[in-house]
Amino acid sequence: MGFIHINQEKCSKCGICVDICPPSILHMGKTGPSATKPATCIACGHCVAICPNAAINNIKTPLADQVALAKFPVINSDTAYHFMRSRRSIRCYRSENIPRNQLLKLVDVARFAPTASNKQGISYIIVEDSKILKKATETIINWMEENQARWWSFPLHIRAYREHGIDGIFHSAPNLIIATAPTDFKNGRENTILSFAYLELFANTLGIGSAWAGLFEMCAFSNYSPLLNLFNIPENKSITGAVMAGFPKYTFKRLVDRNPLD
Ligand SMILES: Cc1cc2nc3c(=O)[nH]c(=O)nc-3n(C[C@H](O)[C@H](O)[C@H](O)COP(=O)(O)O)c2cc1C
Repeated sequence: MGFIHINQEKCSKCGICVDICPPSILHMGKTGPSATKPATCIACGHCVAICPNAAINNIKTPLADQVALAKFPVINSDTAYHFMRSRRSIRCYRSENIPRNQLLKLVDVARFAPTASNKQGISYIIVEDSKILKKATETIINWMEENQARWWSFPLHIRAYREHGIDGIFHSAPNLIIATAPTDFKNGRENTILSFAYLELFANTLGIGSAWAGLFEMCAFSNYSPLLNLFNIPENKSITGAVMAGFPKYTFKRLVDRNPLD
């Protein structure tokens, strides 16, 4: 048996799996579909997920692991539009941690975002210890002091932190989610961005707020070793992004507009 297996009794030879296969490795023969070049299968699972008769199995995306879609209602478009527009970056948090099972739900949904050639490749570090986040703030402020001219807001953050103890890096969020990818992985940043877009939207369904930790990213992307060491980033991995998360202290009352659609 090859990596694709067709159940001949169930297969109606409708050809849908052949039509939708992204790298076109499925072909219709007299006895049904067959596959060539297994190495070029990107494991997207489309063939298994689309078959109306559950007649196709793929070692890379086993039929037994796929969930029947009919069980889930489709969200109506007004609800979805309102839901997506109401996501905001949250910068004022309540102090309590997000429960671990909810943090795991966030990263679990993040891995379903689209990735080039379905390469995926992102791993997540969930920071739950506020002491480590406090150390990270101090570390990033030290880095900013060494690199004051690099970005307009650095002197403001340094002064707010040194004079008033204000954390303008993580906004005192109780949790941080760091994405990493193998250092030689070319799509690490873009895959991270899409996965965090999923994460940030999904967070709202759990009452969780989030915001990109862009200043943390600037420091991490400069390979500042005290920061990388704090999170035990191995040499073969790079940080590709980060978002802070926690329960919002306040609730927005209005949807804001953006630039006009161009
Ligand atoms: C790549 C990236 C980096 C960001 N960095 C920060 C940051 O360091 N601190 C912060 O408070 N918000 C940060 N943001 C959030 C943006 O400021 C925010 O998305 C924008 O103002 C629009 O507001 P909204 O997300 O509430 O709709 C970042 C967003 C992105 C996409």
